[in-house]
Amino acid sequence: MDRKITIAIDGHSSTGKSTAAKQLAQELQYIYVDTGAMYRAVSYFALSENLVHNERLDSQKLIDRLDDITITFKRNEETDRADVYLNGQNIEQQIRTLEVSNIVSHIAIISEVRAKLVAQQQAMGRDKGVVMDGRDIGTVVFPDAALKVFMTATPEVRAQRRYVELKQRGDEVTLDEVLHNVLERDRIDSTREDSPLIQADDAKLLDTSTMTREEQFELLLEWAKEAME
Ligand code: DC
Repeated sequence: MDRKITIAIDGHSSTGKSTAAKQLAQELQYIYVDTGAMYRAVSYFALSENLVHNERLDSQKLIDRLDDITITFKRNEETDRADVYLNGQNIEQQIRTLEVSNIVSHIAIISEVRAKLVAQQQAMGRDKGVVMDGRDIGTVVFPDAALKVFMTATPEVRAQRRYVELKQRGDEVTLDEVLHNVLERDRIDSTREDSPLIQADDAKLLDTSTMTREEQFELLLEWAKEAME
């Protein structure tokens, strides 16, 4: 049998990372961890505890409340996917809104938040056999991962994908708003001081601008098999 490895998938938002990572984990019978959902869960906490006023976050208050935040994942029988829970409440739907997307990059720059989530992610991947997607998995969380992939696509393609997703859920958004959010998150994620979004030296680049989901999956699977040898 192939050896169990750690697979780190990083990249820009809305590049198809989580879809590809989930599919790969399912195929390999590995655990899948969506680390973006964890930063989104903290953002949802900040919003629901009124720590955000006029789009300004009270970072110190959030830091003081970090011990009140417990994030867990639990399999959803209907979708066969893992939903994210905040203090026991399923918030899978609530974390995918534009309101959360607009605040999450500001949450992700806080070192105390990152330290808490990174420690939990490292614990979840301790036994290998994991596909983890995020921004800093290959650089910070698992710098020794056997396979590192960095996914990207043009901002226009990514905004269009996210726009279709949000519209399907019934959210009232314009393509322009979504493109603005994509570009703004790229800027903040790539320029933050703590764990900026960068391609690890040993990561394979996957540009999905003109690739179908099937093509992305095939390539990832091929890379995963090579890495297991
Ligand atoms: O993958 P996503 O779009 O759901 O991630 C939401 C935000 O969380 C993203 O803008 C940056 C942040 N993030 C991070 O800083 N580090 C991670 N490992 C995952 C996400």
